[in-house]
Parts: sequence; structure tokens; C-alpha cells
Amino acid sequence: MKLRESALGVFGDNRRLPIHRWYPFIEGYSSELVAMALDEARDASVVFDPFGGSGTTSLTAALRGSSSFFTEANPYMAWLADVKVNGTRRAVGSGADCERLIAFAAQVERVRVPTVSSEHPLVIASDRRDYFPPGVASEIVGLISEVGERFDQPLRELALVAVAAAITPSSNMLRRTDLRRRTTKDARPADFRAEVAKNLQMVARDVALAGADVRGWAVQIGDDAKFGWSVDEPITAIVTSPPYLNGTNYGRNTKLELLALGFIDGEAGLEGLRTREITAGINNVAKRNAEPIEFPAVEEVAQRVSNASYDRRIASMVRAYFSDMYHVLRRTASYSAPHAELWLDIGDSRYAGVAVPTHTLLAGVAELSGWCQVDERLLRTRRSYDGSALSQSLLKFRRRDVDGSTGYGL
Ligand SMILES: C[S@@+](CC[C@H](N)C(=O)[O-])C[C@H]1O[C@@H](n2cnc3c(N)ncnc32)[C@H](O)[C@@H]1O
Repeated sequence: MKLRESALGVFGDNRRLPIHRWYPFIEGYSSELVAMALDEARDASVVFDPFGGSGTTSLTAALRGSSSFFTEANPYMAWLADVKVNGTRRAVGSGADCERLIAFAAQVERVRVPTVSSEHPLVIASDRRDYFPPGVASEIVGLISEVGERFDQPLRELALVAVAAAITPSSNMLRRTDLRRRTTKDARPADFRAEVAKNLQMVARDVALAGADVRGWAVQIGDDAKFGWSVDEPITAIVTSPPYLNGTNYGRNTKLELLALGFIDGEAGLEGLRTREITAGINNVAKRNAEPIEFPAVEEVAQRVSNASYDRRIASMVRAYFSDMYHVLRRTASYSAPHAELWLDIGDSRYAGVAVPTHTLLAGVAELSGWCQVDERLLRTRRSYDGSALSQSLLKFRRRDVDGSTGYGL
């Protein structure tokens, strides 16, 4: 198949692929990008994604017969990746009867669900902030409880993914870089139960169609790519897309799912996620206590941003972002084989008229943390808020050997 470069860096094509499509994650990249990298990799036997997201890297690796490691800060996203890869394998391996999901889909619009407590965090949040049309938050909590009663594992987690994927579409909100309220120009919220029915059928069909092709496991080794994780065998291939500077707020834009499934017990619980996330938004800046590592090239851009903007947090965010990414890249290098390769999908940004060439600065930080850049491909161009052109690139690195050359002796 001919690869369309512009489609590689976005989730779009995954919407048509079995299992990948269970939770459309606009911030994700395509499985084709991962497949291309793994095809190209000198050794794709031990795959790692420090920013696992919805599990595109792990699922693509698993569909090629490889197990992979990932770290992911958002527990809902980590769970989703686990169910897509490991949940599918558990269902196929145990011979679970996915027809039961289809039977449930046929009744779900009529089924009576248990009455739920008005003290449930999702119900409380929705009462306060009008996140759902009347009664929908209780319906969601009730249906989650019904799924728990009706199904044992592994079908339970598959059914829960079908419910989870219906939550935001049936809310008054839209998932964008943040969760934002629908306006009169947007589509009305979907019917929650009809959405669940559709998702249950899709999940059951995909497990039947592609479940046996999932031949690797996805192993979560940590919840912070910067610190605290390790692997027993050297990593040979890393394919990842880090958060973009001032891009998506990954905790907040999945808060309805986090609340519904009990990963946080109130909106204040988002704070815990924010402290381990890469500093990529101005709201994370004040929470930081460690002084960022200073890099001259980053400092020069941070100074220009600081001179051009009234908001001091923007320059602090720029400094903290590259410092955080240094920790991730350094730790990844230290757990990688001498010949390991790293593919980074990254876009640049602009603040107060000042260009922040994220990919160039990140390549510089990578060089200092044990990586040597060997390639750069433009994936697509985007527009910044002020209309100027921004780019999304795929950077490729090889691990530097201790003597300063790469594992390839380049
Ligand atoms: C661009 S998304 C990755 C999308 C992924 N490639 C996919 O296709 O689904 C970046 C992810 O990094 C996660 N993240 C942010 N800070 C992190 C950290 N310190 N450690 C691990 N994951 C982090 C976010 O929660 C988000 O899911």
C-alpha cells in the first residue's frame, strides 16, 4: 500500500481498522506510521512507547506478533491500551463467547439498570457542570454497574470499552485539545444507549475478525516516562509521539471517562495526573518544583518568548518541556540496546509571534541524551492560531555508543 505521508501523523486511518477504532483518539497517530518504522527497524524485537496513549504502537506491534512495553500517565488511556491488546488476547485465548456482547447489544437500549447513588463522582460533576443531558450521567454509571453484574472477565472489560467510548459522544462536551462545551453549530449529543449498542457490535466483530492476529502483549512498565521505570531486556525500537508543546490537555480531555470508570474520584483527582505529565501546557507550570535543566538553544527561544509575551508562564513552560523530555530520552537511551532506533513524531509551535521549533530543539536535546539524529521526514503542515505555517515531522535517531558513535558505527 502506498503510504500517504500526511495521514501518517494523525489517527484518521485508524478509525477504519479493527480494534484500533474502539476509541477514536484524535491525538493519536496512525498504525501505518508505526508499521513503517517497525519495517524499517534494524531490530524490532523489543518495542517501547514512552507515551503509549490509546495503544497504537503496542497494538500495531502485537498484530505483527511482537510484545511491547509502554509507559502512560493517564490511567484511562493505559487501561484502554491494555484491553485493546491484552483484553483481546485474553478473550481469544479463553474462548470467550463474544456472541454474548452482540446479544447484549440487541437489548441494551431497553435493559433496566440498577439505580445509582447521586454521590457517584460522575453524577456529582455533571450536576455541577452540566456535562450531560438530564439523566445521562446516571444511565452511564448504571450501565457500568450492569456490565459488572452481567459479565465476568474477559468479556467485562471488552463491554466496558464499548460503554467508555460512548461517554463523551453522548455528553454536552466535545473532546478537543481540552474538553469543550458543544455549541449550536456542533452536532447534538448522541443517544447513549444506541451508541453503546453500536460499539458492542463493533468490539465483538473486531475480536472475531482480528482477535487471533493479536499475537503479542502490551506491558505497562510505568506511569511516568521520565522516572521510575525499567526493563529487563534492552529496548531495540522506540516509536512514539510525545505531547506537543501547548497542545492537548490529556488529563482534562478524558475526565468524563476517568470519572465514570473510577480512575479518579472527583475533578480534583486530575491534579495527580498533571504532576506526572510532561509539562506541555501553561497550567502545569506553576505546579512544578524541580528547576528545569537549562539548554542554551532552548534558553535563547525561551528568552525571545519571554520578551514577546506578558505571560511569564509561557517561557517557563518551554524550559520545563525540554527538560522533561531530556529525562525521558535519557532514561530511554539508558535502557536501550546499542543499535536501538527511535522514531519521534513531533510538531512545532508558535507563541506571541515567536516560532518555537520544537522538532529542532528536541533533536538537540535528544543528541545530549544519548541519541544521534539520522533522518527527518515532514509529515504535514498545520496552521497556528495566527495563521502561520507549522509543521509535523517524524524524526529518527540511533542510540549513540559510549564512544560517541552510534551503534551503527556512523
Ligand atoms: C500524543 S499522545 C500519544 C498518542 C499515541 N501515539 C496514540 O496513537 O494513541 C501523548 C500521550 O502521552 C501521555 N503522557 C503525558 N505525559 C506523560 C508522562 N510523563 N509519562 C507517560 N505518558 C505521558 C499522555 O497522557 C498522552 O496519552
